[in-house]
Amino acid sequence: MTIVSPSLLSADFLHLQQDVEMFDRSNAQWLHYDVMDGNFVPNISFGTKILKQVNSATEKFLDVHIMVANPLQAIDYFDGCGADLITFHYEACQNDEECLQVIEKLKNKGIKAGVSVKPNTPVEVLIPLLDKVDLVLVMTVEPGFGGQKFMPEMMGKCDWLYQYRKDHDLNYIIEVDGGINAQTGKTAVEHHCEALVAGSYCFSNTISFDEAVDTLLAL
Ligand code: DX5
Ligand code: ZN
Repeated sequence: MTIVSPSLLSADFLHLQQDVEMFDRSNAQWLHYDVMDGNFVPNISFGTKILKQVNSATEKFLDVHIMVANPLQAIDYFDGCGADLITFHYEACQNDEECLQVIEKLKNKGIKAGVSVKPNTPVEVLIPLLDKVDLVLVMTVEPGFGGQKFMPEMMGKCDWLYQYRKDHDLNYIIEVDGGINAQTGKTAVEHHCEALVAGSYCFSNTISFDEAVDTLLAL
């Protein structure tokens, strides 16, 4: 079954509790939490204090995506905030060694480790990390903003990750983020994506949150 991870970035921040409760009652398994620092990406979202409060309002899996420079330092700020998984960006690290240090630090904290690549980064750069991560996040938009258009040309990365996982007997989850709706989500699932992040589609005015989640779950 597909994992659906609604992105809180598209929630109504003046009614955050209601939106977290709506998520909690829905059939979505994960909640996606986008942290942006205004440096690694040209936008600032929200940080650890709000995450901690969100965590107190749901027992569900918190899928945290950190779009920040210096993830090795930044992950320490998340101690005690309830993240089940933290996905950092390959491009935010100086080199592979630093990526490996981030993964190890997360493991030592008892947090699952995910790594993400931006659209212009070839997925093969992740080879030295793939036997150590729990999840790979393929960005299908430039990170920084919700509501952008899905880039179908990223699907080759998902196919490659699927084949590599099979050939090397690995077990990371393949997740996709950016422009996901019923149509693009179907495309992603056809390309072996098991976890779908969706912000504007889940929190839209045209269909209900539950309908959006259930549509993605059924893909
Ligand atoms: C973009 C974020 C996404 C964003 C997705 O940088 O990483 O998680 O919330 O929003 P939609 O689903 O609207 O593209
Ligand atoms: Zn995200």
